[in-house]
Amino acid sequence: MAAVVLVSRPASVLSKISSNCYPALLSAASVTTVQQRKLHHALIPKGKGGRSSFSGIAATVFGATGFLGRYVVNRLGRIGSQIIIPHRCDQYDLMHFRPMGDLGQILFLQWDARNKDSIKRAMEHSNVVINLVGREWETRNFRFEDVYVTIPQQIARAAREAGITKFVHMSHLNADIRSPSKYLRNKAVGENAVREEFPDAIIMKPSEMFGREDRFFNYYANMRWFGNAVPLIALGKKAVKQPVHVVDVAKAIISAIRDPDANGKTYALVGPNRYLLHDLVEYIYAVAHRPFVPYPLPRPLFQIKDELLTYLFHKLFHLLSMQFLSFAVHSKNSKSYQVYLSNF
Ligand SMILES: NC(=O)c1ccc[n+]([C@@H]2O[C@H](COP(=O)([O-])OP(=O)(O)OC[C@H]3O[C@@H](n4cnc5c(N)ncnc54)[C@H](OP(=O)(O)O)[C@@H]3O)[C@@H](O)[C@H]2O)c1
Repeated sequence: MAAVVLVSRPASVLSKISSNCYPALLSAASVTTVQQRKLHHALIPKGKGGRSSFSGIAATVFGATGFLGRYVVNRLGRIGSQIIIPHRCDQYDLMHFRPMGDLGQILFLQWDARNKDSIKRAMEHSNVVINLVGREWETRNFRFEDVYVTIPQQIARAAREAGITKFVHMSHLNADIRSPSKYLRNKAVGENAVREEFPDAIIMKPSEMFGREDRFFNYYANMRWFGNAVPLIALGKKAVKQPVHVVDVAKAIISAIRDPDANGKTYALVGPNRYLLHDLVEYIYAVAHRPFVPYPLPRPLFQIKDELLTYLFHKLFHLLSMQFLSFAVHSKNSKSYQVYLSNF
C-alpha cells in the first residue's frame, strides 16, 4: 500500500468546509431559576450570582469525573449552585472539584450504577439531574447497552419518581439506530429510553468535543503506531468533522437548565465550522511541529484495531494493573479492591 507523504502546511491555513453553521452555544434566553420542589430553605436563590451566592440549582451530576464533567461542575459552581457528585473512584481523584464551588456546596457520594437505591439517594436533595455517563469501549462488566441504555433509563426513571424538574441527558450528534457503529446505535436507543421515562428530558447531542485533555485531538496527536505515519480511513478526506469546544458544551448545558422553554427539547451542539478530518489532523501536526504523513487505512483493519486494540488494551491493562495494585498495596483488604475492580 502506498503511503502518501505530504508536507504539513502552516497551522494558520486550516481550510473550512463551511462557516455558516450554527454554533453550539445556546443563548441563555432566560435567567429564570429552576422551579423548586420540597427543598431545603437554603436552596432559595440569593446573592449577586457569583460562586458565593446561590442560584437555586441543586444539581446531581452523574459522570462528573469524566472529560465534560469537570467543566459542567465548574460552570455550575461559578453561578453558585449546590452540586452532588456521585462517583466510584478514589477520593484523591476528586480533589480538583473542591475549588470549583463555595465551601460545602460540592458534595461527594459513592454510587453504583446497578444499585437503584444509590441512584435515588444521589438525587434526593436535588432539583436538577445531569447524566454524563459514557464510555467509548465496552468492558467485562458494562456493555454499551448498560452504559447508554440501562443506566440512563434508571437515572431518568429515578429522576421522574423523585420529582426532578430538569433532567439533562448527553447523547451524540450522530446517534442513529441504523448506524454501523454499535456505540451510536446504543446512544440512539438510550435517547428513546430516556424520553419514555422522562418526556421533559433535555437531550444534548454534541459532535466531537475538543479541549485540553480531549480524546479527539490528543488521540491523533499521540498516534505513533507506525512511526510518523498517521493511519486514516480514505486519508480522512471523506470524514467531515464539526468539533465543538468542551466549554461551549458546558455553557449550553447551563443555559438549558436555566431556560424554562428547554424542557423536552433536543439540541445538536456543534462548532462554528466544518473541516475534513484530513485537514484537522494536518493542522494538529503543524501545531505540534511534526511531519504529517497520512496513511490510507482500510476500514476492516481499522475495525480490528478498534475492537481488539482499544478493548483489549484498556481492559487488560486496567485489570492487570489493578490486580497488581490490589495484591501489592491492599493484600490485607483485597475484598474492597475486588469490589472496586467490578466497577470497570
Ligand atoms: N467526548 C466526546 O467527544 C463526546 C462527544 C459526544 C458525546 N459525548 C458524550 O458525552 C458524555 C460525556 O462525555 P465525556 O467525554 O465527559 O465522557 P468520559 O470522559 O468518558 O466520562 C464518562 C463518565 O462516565 C462515568 N462512567 C462510565 N461508565 C460508568 C459506569 N459503568 N458506572 C458509573 N459511571 C460510569 C465515568 O466514571 P469513571 O471516571 O469512574 O470511569 C466518567 O465519570 C458521554 O455520554 C459521551 O458519550 C462525548
